[in-house]
Amino acid sequence: MRIRGAKPNDAIAIRKLVEQYVGDGTLLPRSESFIAMHADHFLVAEEKGRLIGCVHLDEYAPSLSELRSLAVDAAAKGRGVGRALVLATEELAKRRGCATLFAVSNDEAFFNRFGFQARHIPELDRERSEVSRYKGVFAKDLAVGGAVEDTGPKDYP
Ligand SMILES: CC(C)(COP(=O)(O)OP(=O)(O)OC[C@H]1O[C@@H](n2cnc3c(N)ncnc32)[C@H](O)[C@@H]1OP(=O)(O)O)[C@@H](O)C(=O)NCCC(=O)NCCS
Repeated sequence: MRIRGAKPNDAIAIRKLVEQYVGDGTLLPRSESFIAMHADHFLVAEEKGRLIGCVHLDEYAPSLSELRSLAVDAAAKGRGVGRALVLATEELAKRRGCATLFAVSNDEAFFNRFGFQARHIPELDRERSEVSRYKGVFAKDLAVGGAVEDTGPKDYP
């Protein structure tokens, strides 16, 4: 399994991954045109040429980014794909100078595992949708400042 930056032509597969979790309100839908236009802010997990996970790093404000649209194919859950995507998102956020990364989710236990803690983020108040208003906000401060090596795509066992 390999984590790499998305390309515009990954948009259909990413849209389908996200869609698996839209029906129950876990994720908001993402259109193919949005994904293609913002492909350089998406990471994907690829295995044998197939996308099995994705995540979107959304620069919300200077130094503040949101980890969103984290989705692992239902058939690939429980194998460390979600972990690899979260860690790769943190690395990308650090490389882009982001000091704080947050996620809006009902899955507190999952984000706690990676050091995200419930936090009030004032910048979010004005824009939160009705859907996300009822979810938790979990944030993590990133150690920005040290040189972060740009290692490019990574292969994970
Ligand atoms: C949440 C999700 C991304 C996890 O992906 P995954 O590939 O199954 O997770 P991993 O196998 O990498 O698990 C990493 C760790 O988190 C734990 N974990 C996995 N899902 C968890 C959950 N829902 N709650 C708490 N812990 C969880 C695993 O046990 C593992 O712990 P370990 O390292 O101690 O063994 C996946 O279930 C998913 O796509 N869910 C639907 C979308 C979603 O909820 N996105 C998050 C909101 S943006």
